[in-house]
Amino acid sequence: MQIEFRNSPDADMPRIVARIVNHENMPADLPRAVKEGAEATRFKGKPGQVFDGFAEMDGKLVRMALAGGGKTDKEGRHAALERAGAALTAKYLTSGETAMAIDAGASGLDAEETAAVLTGARLRAWRWDEYRTKLRDEQKRTLAKIVVIGAPDGTQAQWEDAQAVATGVEFTRELVAEPANIIYPESFVERCQKRFEGTGAELVVLDDADMEKLGMGALLGVGLGSERPSRILAIKWMGGNDGDAPVAFVGKGVTFDTGGISLKPGPGMEDMKWDMGGAGAVAGAMLALTLRKAKANVIGVCGLVENMPDGKAMRPGDVITSMSGQTIEVLNTDAEGRLVLCDALTWVQKEFKPARIVDLATLTGAMLVALGHEHAGVFSNDDDLANELLHAGTASGDKLWRFPLAPEYDKLLDSPIADMKNIGGRYAGSITAAQFLQRFIENDTPWAHLDVAGMVWADKPGATWDKGATGYGVRLLDRFIRDTMKG
Ligand code: BES
Ligand code: MN
Ligand code: ZN
Repeated sequence: MQIEFRNSPDADMPRIVARIVNHENMPADLPRAVKEGAEATRFKGKPGQVFDGFAEMDGKLVRMALAGGGKTDKEGRHAALERAGAALTAKYLTSGETAMAIDAGASGLDAEETAAVLTGARLRAWRWDEYRTKLRDEQKRTLAKIVVIGAPDGTQAQWEDAQAVATGVEFTRELVAEPANIIYPESFVERCQKRFEGTGAELVVLDDADMEKLGMGALLGVGLGSERPSRILAIKWMGGNDGDAPVAFVGKGVTFDTGGISLKPGPGMEDMKWDMGGAGAVAGAMLALTLRKAKANVIGVCGLVENMPDGKAMRPGDVITSMSGQTIEVLNTDAEGRLVLCDALTWVQKEFKPARIVDLATLTGAMLVALGHEHAGVFSNDDDLANELLHAGTASGDKLWRFPLAPEYDKLLDSPIADMKNIGGRYAGSITAAQFLQRFIENDTPWAHLDVAGMVWADKPGATWDKGATGYGVRLLDRFIRDTMKG
């Protein structure tokens, strides 16, 4: 999407002129057809609402659009404005119109708010048409340009910053949308190496032999059935003070999850191409932080493995030794995400001594049962960290809901033959998965686990995404770093 800034309306304006209207705050200066039309269709300025009507202005026919900006005093204001921008692009994306103007001045938006509208507009326009060679004309995207009118001073700088984040979200979506024959551990790493070239981030890659030496029996165990070698990718962005301990983000990157020998049923298995959504979010968030030169030290680690059934694959009942030295009885090879994460968590703690750790994973189907597609679950050993993440969730629109951890849940993982089993009982499946990860956190380092199973993929369009990969997590982590590290 091309974005152009102009001080005031001029002769060469797009036919569509849009305004953001706050909740129950209809502007007085609208043409009568638009004002009364909006009232007649119950347009109130709620987030996501759009109205458009035609009006004659200065002898020209304009298509005037109103998008709801919600209430101005709400904590989710930024998210509501993104949604307004998104609702506008969703409406005109394939409409035949090639450009749209947004009147920021008449909408009374400040620089940051204008950038939020543009972020939403750009993100909602993203699609992955790489493999579609036969799109009909009316399916093709036509909207290619947004002209911003009367934006306040400072908007372009805010937009530079916001564009970095949008680029990060789009990179995550690309990684998630790609099928598993294209994105597997090695190609995930290559895609990142290409994308981060020249950005100033440092990439560290561990291959099977490196991981063998480090004793990562859990992560490597998951990859045993696959023809594709496993990888760990660390993306380092040291934009903060020298010597400050970094924050670590750790993502589950199972590039395809068949379940292994504990094979999943056929219907719906194709969804498991996005079982790397946690790692995808980490890569996209690191790209956002790197492009906007965040003043913070952050390490993003992706644990990359393919989970396949094979003669060489792990069997249910096998006992494996993790890098931490703790042994695991693998009772279900489909509970593989925690096996990948536990070694990635141990490695990041040994290697980088992070001050705080946040992991993201499409870890359990039980999370979808609990929260559906509206919130990701957050599990944490630290109330401050949990609250900061919850707040970043509300502000960014990547929403979270907290779940408990407790010794009674932890006990469900005790094994008669090893230090732990990789599954709990029938109930509280998302919590026992989190308890498993907590066993790998050393010295009570503040840690939070985000189970994003319901969030990385959408079967229908949402606030700022079309159906498909949502890019969930990037704006959450970006907001978290801005708010907690002044970065
Ligand atoms: N990747 C899945 C979880 C998942 C399922 C994510 C559906 C998104 C949609 C994970 O590896 C898995 O298979 N988990 C098992 C754990 C069980 C065996 C304890 C599950 O949730 O069924
Ligand atoms: Mn699985
Ligand atoms: Zn999985």
